[in-house]
Amino acid sequence: MPSSFLDNDLCYGGFSMKVRKAVIPAAGLGTRVLPASKAVPKEMLPIVDKPAIQYIVEEAVASGIEDILIITNRGKSLIEDHFDHAPELEDKLRSSGKQDLFDQVVSLAHLCNIQYVRQKETRGLGHAVGCAKSFVGNEPFAVLYGDDVVISPPGKPAIGELIAVHETYGKSVVGIKEVPDDLLRSYCTLGVKPVQNAVYEVFDMIEKPLPEEVISNFAILGRCVLTPDIFELIENTPPSRNNEVQLTDAMRTLAKRGDMMGIAYTGKRYDMGNKLGILQATIEVGLTHPEIGTGLRAYLKEIASTL
Ligand code: UTP
Repeated sequence: MPSSFLDNDLCYGGFSMKVRKAVIPAAGLGTRVLPASKAVPKEMLPIVDKPAIQYIVEEAVASGIEDILIITNRGKSLIEDHFDHAPELEDKLRSSGKQDLFDQVVSLAHLCNIQYVRQKETRGLGHAVGCAKSFVGNEPFAVLYGDDVVISPPGKPAIGELIAVHETYGKSVVGIKEVPDDLLRSYCTLGVKPVQNAVYEVFDMIEKPLPEEVISNFAILGRCVLTPDIFELIENTPPSRNNEVQLTDAMRTLAKRGDMMGIAYTGKRYDMGNKLGILQATIEVGLTHPEIGTGLRAYLKEIASTL
């Protein structure tokens, strides 16, 4: 039950619907990690031995999601291949007795019901989420940004924590964290009022704020649960810079009318759309990896002593 992810239970009458569907926008151009992302989608860049998007799909599944829509574009068919059968590889692994690898490879085709839709022009995150309208229908849904990997302690998947807040309050929810001043201008700034523990009411949000527009150091980091009225708001949101429709601009209306909550989720978020973020994820996940953790620790100590 997702609501068990919340420490305490403030129930406002149980009017929310179960969140069964998730949308993963993965149609961006990934210009910050070029040239690596020229032919390989940034969502497929690995953290140790799994591509970023696999961590994200596993987080959704661990949070009770049953159906996933991945928003792709030209050149992202590797994502579809990753979550499909690979008959030759599977035969080879089976016949050579590599049962563990065989199981891992086969399980990828059965993780969840995954569908795909193309965003035909790169017109921003809001436009990408808008492409999910017919998949979502009239129910609340989760959004997991395809380049934001969150590593959480067992039993606390980030989107599960947002779903629990949605189930308690019946409103849209954003995953939030406090970020340093210099990062705020690349993300957004939020107006928040604390409600309980890590849960906040979000009353305003400004995308990529100028210094004089900053409301707080809280920003949205990679996760939302949205009510389906967001689609009409997206349709009525004019494009801003680079002719892109920003999801934050559409969500701002929800915040302004008192329909938006936030939770500072437990896990640690890594920005896989950024070179340093990729290295941080690789090192920190590598240190806990059963196969390479010990070797990597020794190597890091050795190299740190030379810095
Ligand atoms: P970003 O703004 O980080 O993606 O969007 P980007 O455009 O690839 O970034 P640059 O070029 O390095 O600045 C966050 C998420 O939204 C998706 C991206 O794939 C990423 O997972 N996205 C973004 C879309 O699906 N469609 C878009 O038009 C833009």
